Amino acid sequence: MAVERMKAQTIWLTGLPCAGKTTLANLLFRSLLEQGVTNVEVLDGDVVRTHLSKGLGFSRADRDTNIRRIGWVCRVLTKHGVCSIVAAVSPFRAVRDDVRAMVEQVGGPGSFVEVWVRCGVEECIRRDVKGMYAKALRGEIEQFTGVSDPYEEPLKADVVVNTGTETPSESVDRILEVIHRAASSR
Ligand SMILES: Nc1ncnc2c1ncn2[C@@H]1O[C@H](COP(=O)(O)OP(=O)(O)O)[C@@H](O)[C@H]1O
Ligand SMILES: [Mg+2]
Repeated sequence: MAVERMKAQTIWLTGLPCAGKTTLANLLFRSLLEQGVTNVEVLDGDVVRTHLSKGLGFSRADRDTNIRRIGWVCRVLTKHGVCSIVAAVSPFRAVRDDVRAMVEQVGGPGSFVEVWVRCGVEECIRRDVKGMYAKALRGEIEQFTGVSDPYEEPLKADVVVNTGTETPSESVDRILEVIHRAASSR
């Protein structure tokens, strides 16, 4: 397959823990690679917290710092023509809006695609991929988004995927459609 370079975009997946961000980020990455798009990097919140944001906690201030750092990396990657796929709870609207502005400042309008990975908290609790909800519900983890910390739902997401009712591949197809539309309109 011919190697293509996709115009730099940041695909920002936000949603509750266990909503499906990591699953979709990895599927999107694979799918873009299969399409021959090689200038792509995945930034997963959990991984970022072991490197770039090691030592930060889950207070509002630390969460905001974590997201701004990821946003800054996306901005740098955008400047150099690399696509970023971010999987991060990113619960606060104001900071998501700030990182959109940071990226669009270098990549232009349409370079930031906000994806709301939407799933009801009851379904997230049922999935409980890492047993974190159970701990949070027992009071063993403080400030856990969806249980004891807020999640501010996006008001102007570029795409909303409902992972409680869609299969992962249906969600990925819907995101890819928006990515390609955003890329071709720029
Ligand atoms: N449409 C969907 N998109 C993404 N994940 C889904 C979907 N439907 C079911 N799932 C399941 O939900 C779980 C989501 O886990 P994960 O991706 O680790 O969530 P997060 O990264 O948001 O915490 C996985 O077990 C995945 O298979
Ligand atoms: Mg994850």
